[in-house]
Amino acid sequence: MRMYDLIMKKRNGGKLVKPEIDYMVKGFTAGEIPDYQMAAMMMAVYFVGLDEEETLHLTMAMAHSGDMLDLSGIHGVKVDKHSTGGVGDKTSLALTPMVAACGIKVAKMSGRGLGHTGGTIDKLESFAGFTTGITQRRFMENVERVGIAIMGQTADLAPADKKLYALRDVTATVDNMSLIASSIMSKKLASGADAIVLDVKTGSGAFMKAEKDARALAEEMVKIGKNAGRRTSAVISDMDQPLGYAVGNALEVKEAIATLKGEGPEDFVELCLALGSHMVVAGGMAESLAEAEGKLKQAVADGSALDKLAEFVEAQGGDKEAVYDTGRLPKAAYIEEVLSPQEGYVEHIVCDEIGICSLMLGGGRETKESVIDLSVGMELKKKVGDYVRIGEPLAKVHGNDKGKMEAAVKRLLGSYRFSGQPVGKPSLIKAVIE
Ligand code: URA
Repeated sequence: MRMYDLIMKKRNGGKLVKPEIDYMVKGFTAGEIPDYQMAAMMMAVYFVGLDEEETLHLTMAMAHSGDMLDLSGIHGVKVDKHSTGGVGDKTSLALTPMVAACGIKVAKMSGRGLGHTGGTIDKLESFAGFTTGITQRRFMENVERVGIAIMGQTADLAPADKKLYALRDVTATVDNMSLIASSIMSKKLASGADAIVLDVKTGSGAFMKAEKDARALAEEMVKIGKNAGRRTSAVISDMDQPLGYAVGNALEVKEAIATLKGEGPEDFVELCLALGSHMVVAGGMAESLAEAEGKLKQAVADGSALDKLAEFVEAQGGDKEAVYDTGRLPKAAYIEEVLSPQEGYVEHIVCDEIGICSLMLGGGRETKESVIDLSVGMELKKKVGDYVRIGEPLAKVHGNDKGKMEAAVKRLLGSYRFSGQPVGKPSLIKAVIE
């Protein structure tokens, strides 16, 4: 087999078969197929596309390019959740203890990554001592005993995807639906869960800005999951404004804890219940979504979800007392109120801009080497549809550097749009794909 022939086949509109895709992925991962040939192939795929079978073969080849985690030694159905990410997305922090309190086993590989705030792992490190540097054995034991364990993504998880994504990133071939879907799903399949619930975001703060693109991506990923024998569903949710009110690592942890106490923001609670219901049904702990939602609400009401978070934090070396006393979480030196310069209804919040404010304060990573300040961020006080008077707080900015805070306040003010007419609250859940 020659890579040259495969590139030509795809360029001319042909369909690649499994042995050809396996050859290509293996050769590229081993360094035997050079970047320039793979780049040409990615561009051919970009223009010609991959069909359902080709997408599945690519996903499976990438998933099998490194370790495939075997969770079969853990009792019950193991359920994973993945979000395409957005501003203020702290969902895993509240959702995983909620579903674990309902008897679901959550074995999760999470990342740090570049972004407006840290990833789930960074946020969890707001609990002093918390570590994801646990052995695979301890990871499995914790899933069995506690119901949740989170481990950092190892270099051996779908290495083909890692290498291919880096190449796509510099050759303008990221934004192809089949390539994105296979990239995400290869990592999820290698992580070993039996069932996967996907949270695909849409809106100005999301990777997929247009709802129709988010839907197409969700459909593609659900198809891959099912064809790979994993129970998979997707919720398409709004990211046209930040999720909840808190943006910033420790601030988001605090909001997740409030949610587990039954005091969470309406949109965030709605999302946790929607995703959680699918996880509880997929895990066999409820017959219907309505029954699952009832169980999740009960776990919050009786305190078992909050206790589950404490148990999980302690099992991974963290300060569990901070779950009950959030004063122990990292705190910024300064808090400044941002007052509204205008009266009216909040019409729009440029979601990306709020994320950039968090980055400017030091809450995210610009490069892999950046050190995150867990204490900084924003607490929004007004969201789309809310009425605000001149001089009323729009937000609170938490920072450790007055200069950075001044710049962030300016940017935050620029991200709010007002209207004299009442503005409806946007719906959070746009669609569910099963
Ligand atoms: N996230 C991924 O993991 N892969 C892509 O291709 C795009 C976003």
